[in-house]
Amino acid sequence: MCGIVGYIGREQAAPILLEGLSRLEYRGYDSAGVAVFDNETGALAVHKAGGRLQVLHDRLRGGADLHGTAGIGHTRWATHGAPSDVNSHPQVSRSGRIAVVHNGIIENYSELRAYLTGQGIPFRSETDTEAAAQLIEYFYSGDLLAAVEKALQRIQGSYALGILCADCPDQIIAVRKDNPLILGYGDGCNFIASDVTALLGHTRQVSYMEDGELAVLTRDRIQCYNRQMQPIQPKPVAIDWEIDAAEKGGYEHFMLKEIMEQPEALRRCLSPRIRNGEAVFEGAVLNQAFLETMRRIHIVACGSSYHVGVAGKYHLERLTRRPVEVNLSSEFRYMDPIVDERTLVIVISQSGETLDTMAALREARRLGAPVLSLVNVVGSSIARESDQVLYTWAGPEIAVATTKAYTTQLALLSLLALWMARRLNTVSDEAYQAALAGFQALPEQMEAVLSRREEIRSFASQSSSRSSMFFIGRNLDYALGLEGSLKMKEISYIHAEAYASGELKHGSISLIEQDTLVVALGTYGRLFSKAVSNVVEVKARGAGVLALTTDSRKEEMARIADGVMTIPDADDLFLPILGAAPLQLFAYYTALLRGCDIDKPRNLAKSVTVE
Ligand code: M6R
Repeated sequence: MCGIVGYIGREQAAPILLEGLSRLEYRGYDSAGVAVFDNETGALAVHKAGGRLQVLHDRLRGGADLHGTAGIGHTRWATHGAPSDVNSHPQVSRSGRIAVVHNGIIENYSELRAYLTGQGIPFRSETDTEAAAQLIEYFYSGDLLAAVEKALQRIQGSYALGILCADCPDQIIAVRKDNPLILGYGDGCNFIASDVTALLGHTRQVSYMEDGELAVLTRDRIQCYNRQMQPIQPKPVAIDWEIDAAEKGGYEHFMLKEIMEQPEALRRCLSPRIRNGEAVFEGAVLNQAFLETMRRIHIVACGSSYHVGVAGKYHLERLTRRPVEVNLSSEFRYMDPIVDERTLVIVISQSGETLDTMAALREARRLGAPVLSLVNVVGSSIARESDQVLYTWAGPEIAVATTKAYTTQLALLSLLALWMARRLNTVSDEAYQAALAGFQALPEQMEAVLSRREEIRSFASQSSSRSSMFFIGRNLDYALGLEGSLKMKEISYIHAEAYASGELKHGSISLIEQDTLVVALGTYGRLFSKAVSNVVEVKARGAGVLALTTDSRKEEMARIADGVMTIPDADDLFLPILGAAPLQLFAYYTALLRGCDIDKPRNLAKSVTVE
């Protein structure tokens, strides 16, 4: 969603802000803006533009014309008010003295707006953020920090704020509540950002602000305060992501690059966790004492991370013989969930910032359940609030459609299922060792799948002109279909629906007609014959069928389907991981033929930090 960058130093701020914002483009946005303190005029220069960041970049000649060494910038994903110049951030106060960039939602903005309007303060935009800028100025009488503090007492909702004031050109104020904000420590300069990728070109030393914290940045220092406004000293940590990890590296799109990075990402995720012939997971939650009392497992996540949970449930239940429930975070948080200290709650999130998942995590902890999170972004809010975190170590994922984060999350959850089974004595020694060997071979098997990329590309011509598709499968293949159909719809804008094959006859088969494309998933060996029957069934009603199965079953499937993609034969544990790659590529090439904006699909954001 929205992105924030702030810089205070000795160099011209505008080019640094624009470069930082360009690294946040992947989060999804519809307008952008910057505010810089101009030494010559002694005022804030604010420039904003609807549409792509390039528009603003061109207008400002890359920032060359905007003089000043302190500034804040923003990419906005519209929530309150249409995407337009006036609604873009920074939002400024009535006098133009105070500028604010904001991620999140100010829930009581109508009330604040009504109050301030009643005090004779006119509003220009439709945004909730303008209320924050106006309120700070309303309380301002020469002490910016005091004004911000007073304003925060009146503001309700979630926010990460960057605040710049023309009267205090040597400082930027940053505040965080329920929305991520990072402080970056440079040499003679300091930064704020909503996401580390914005800082990669400038500093590796960062600290993550906690909820309720406030920071005052000057050129040589960052002073932080806790909720009670007592000074605190956060410990900066070093980011180990390389800058080229956040660049396209010769690929046309980040999505393709990230698909191709999966073997390496799986290696990074798995190899440190398999040592001396054992899976290694010990920690605050994952220990023998807890496992022996654990009654059930509850998985909570959104989108693709939820699909990881759906696939993981099959593995966890089969291996550990413990009941597993999987819920969407947005449902879990309001469903009065039955969890307690004997329930393991597993939270899955690539970004570690998804608001609904965060709320679900807090609800689970409030109810006494230990929370284990599977997260990609190191130091993210979900990671920090969990009782134990397992990082996927997939590296930065820039494309909105997740690929390598999905496969590493699923690999990690599957390895965890195996580890638990070993500890609970529900897996034989032989099966355990065989599965561990399978995990070690997984990156290479993924390489084999990706080497079939051109073959998969050839199927995209069958799909690119369709208006609707069904992804059907049973059990693990159903879970895979959920992810395959989401990939297809989010980047190609083709209506794609995942369906449990056994349910077809209970309603949806009535939608199958001459031109429907059915992607039939039949990788799960135990139910292969049923997958074949379903293909016959939909073909009989005129559907075109593209199937996905394993190498050894290709011939049989090819007798009935119109096209067949394959993955290597593998243990059940690995099928939805390997099977995801052809479906990612299939969606990617379909979207490419349709000329879609693959890395930044319409209306979508990389991390969903509002409800
Ligand atoms: O960062 P998270 O894993 O918590 O994000 C969850 C979903 O928003 C995310 O998986 C989304 O569905 C992706 N666009 C799917 O490609």
